[in-house]
This record gives sequence, structure tokens and C-alpha cells, in this order.
Amino acid sequence: MIGSVFLQLTRHSGFRRMAWKPIYELLATVLPLRNWRFMNYGYSPGPHEAPVILKPEDEEERLPLQLYHYLATRGDMNGKDVLEVGCGRGGGSYYMARYLAPRSLTGLDLAEAAIAFCRKHWKHPSLRYVRGNAEDLPFPDQSFDVVINVESSHAYGSFPQFLSEVKRVLRPEGILLITDMRLEGDLPVMQEALHQSGMKVVEEEDITHLVVKAIEEGDKRKRVRIRKLVPWWLTGFFHEFAGVKGSAIHLHMKDRRRLYYRWKLIA
Ligand SMILES: C[S@@+](CC[C@H](N)C(=O)[O-])C[C@H]1O[C@@H](n2cnc3c(N)ncnc32)[C@H](O)[C@@H]1O
Repeated sequence: MIGSVFLQLTRHSGFRRMAWKPIYELLATVLPLRNWRFMNYGYSPGPHEAPVILKPEDEEERLPLQLYHYLATRGDMNGKDVLEVGCGRGGGSYYMARYLAPRSLTGLDLAEAAIAFCRKHWKHPSLRYVRGNAEDLPFPDQSFDVVINVESSHAYGSFPQFLSEVKRVLRPEGILLITDMRLEGDLPVMQEALHQSGMKVVEEEDITHLVVKAIEEGDKRKRVRIRKLVPWWLTGFFHEFAGVKGSAIHLHMKDRRRLYYRWKLIA
């Protein structure tokens, strides 16, 4: 399966740096559609979690938005300066700016086309978009109270370098909220990097089953959307990339060869 081979190759830092950027540039370029705001696999709340109340215009993308809601509400953004690293198509930063009342929200991404897309579509007084690299953040020391990072860190050449940059731009007692997936065998490396980052890991949670649940609940809608919006020659790639039911990502997470976690750290 192309998806499996590609995912194996992304274990190498050089390949990651080289391969992901053109893919994310391409996605923002071939799909300049305003109502496709997210690029994560989503989150479906557990049985004891209250569902988030959304504005009608946000309902269509409830599953990926819930991943942001779940992670972002583990910290307090009210009145804070917040940085999102790897903001993608900007749905998450636009949601946080409107619902969680930060003083400022900066969305950063490596892909120029993604930043152009965000600047064009998402306007809010507290929101701005900056092009930049997670491994070399273009901000002075101690500029932010909260850094949030959603399903982006798997693409970085050096995860420890990203963490060192986060620590540098966070103010004392600032918070890092991060969620992403790794192959089961690579998860301990990620955990070790978080514990060696000079920040304190205060929460860690395995949310793999709730991401799998979201993939399964959102499958029909995702397939219809891909059929309608994606050029035919990209359909196969999109089924793998977007993680439909039966894709490598879905199957790997379902049988726990790939794990999805979230963490909270304090600087
Ligand atoms: C799977 S998408 C997730 C986007 C968004 N967080 C979401 O959930 O919709 C990963 C994003 O990380 C960005 N990214 C990858 N490597 C990066 C880097 N070194 N610096 C900044 N952003 C990066 C990609 O361009 C892409 O937009």
C-alpha cells in the first residue's frame, strides 16, 4: 500500500523535511475551498464528555474541530498570547480566536500556500498568520503564554529542536499543548524528548481510540466530500491522506501499531 510505504519512509528526518512541505503546499493549492478548514483525523468525545456547543457554520467540521477543542481547553487561553505552530488551513486558529478569547492568536505554518489561504479566509481582530518553521520560530524569546500544536510534529526533521524553540518563545509558566501520532515503536522517543525538553510534562493521555472513533464516524462524509471536491487523479492519495476507513492510517491506529497521544507541558 502506497500509504504504508510512505509512512515508513517518514521515519527518516531528511525524508520528512523533504517530503511533507510539497504535500502541504499542494493541498492548499489544489483545494482552495473555504469550507475545508482542517487537516487532522478528528476526535470523538468519550461517553462522559459533554459535546462542545458550536455555531451552525462550524457543525460541518465538528470532528476535526473537536480535536482542537479537547486539546485547547486543557489550558486557559482567555486574555493570553497564543501561538499555533502548524496551523494548516487555519480552521483551528479561527475556532480558538472566536471561542476561547485569547488576547492574540498567531497561526504559523511552513507552507506558503496554507498561510495565503488563512490570510484570505480567516479574519478576526486577535488573529494573524505568519509563515515560518517550527524548528526555527521567527519570534523573540518569551513572546507567548500558550503554544498549541495539532498533528504537525510528525513532519518535523527534529522534534527536540522544535521543543527547544517552544521553550524559548514561552514565558515562564507558559503552556505547551500538543497532540500527534507516532508508530508504536517511536512513541517512547517522543516521550523521552518531551521529558528532556526542560519543560515539565503535567498531563499525558492516549486518545488513539477516540481518534479512530472519529475516523469511523466521519467516513461517509469524508468520502462524499473527496468525490465532490478532489480531482479524480488525486482521489486515491486523498483517501489515504485524509484517513478514510480501511486506509493505512485507520488500520494502523485501530490495531495500535500507530498511537495518538496528547500532552500538556509547563515551561
Ligand atoms: C496534518 S496538517 C495539520 C494542520 C492543522 N494543525 C489541523 O489540524 O488542521 C500539518 C501541518 O503542519 C505543517 N508543518 C509541517 N512541517 C512544519 C514545520 N517544520 N514548521 C511549521 N509547520 C509545519 C504543514 O505545512 C501542515 O499544514
